[in-house]
Amino acid sequence: MEKVTFTRLQDGTAEEYAFLEPLEEQYCHEVVDRLFEHLRKLDDSLGGYQVSRLEHCLQSATRALRAGEDDDMIVGALLHDIGDILAPCNHDELAAAIVRPYLREEITWIVQYHATFQKFYYADKMGGDKNARNRFTGHPYFDACVRFCEDYDENCFDGSYNSMKLEEFRPYMERVFSRKPWDQANIKPHTDVTRG
Ligand SMILES: [Fe+2]
Ligand SMILES: [Fe+2]
Repeated sequence: MEKVTFTRLQDGTAEEYAFLEPLEEQYCHEVVDRLFEHLRKLDDSLGGYQVSRLEHCLQSATRALRAGEDDDMIVGALLHDIGDILAPCNHDELAAAIVRPYLREEITWIVQYHATFQKFYYADKMGGDKNARNRFTGHPYFDACVRFCEDYDENCFDGSYNSMKLEEFRPYMERVFSRKPWDQANIKPHTDVTRG
């Protein structure tokens, strides 16, 4: 079979769906290539800063890696701004949707709300609310998100930082995106209260 014959999903046969299933699995696995392709586009995005958004992401992931963080945090750092091109008004939500089936819940939460927490470092200078993050006060991941912004985000606009190359992150990406999606063993809530 090269193609199914149905034109409405309801008319597909079990045989046709058995034919489609491995194609879908293969397509899911190749998401790493598509993510890399999209990350490269960030080299030509928002201007005016010392570094491109791609370099910012590389700096973020490099700092996480050099600090000894795990695969989840490194991949979360690399992808946290990948939504910039297609969702400039809610880039954090788009990135979180991409990582949610694979990363532990704490990192997905950080990715989803980093833009709100990041405001602490600049929003007052643009007439905004630097304390926007306070609406999450008491949340178990609050401190972790503060730490992410402090260590791997707000400080990653340095034109002289020696970042790793994008391809050097391929093994980390491959490991994470070859996980079984939505596996509770990976995406489960963080229970270490000492780190919040
Ligand atoms: Fe961001
Ligand atoms: Fe960022």
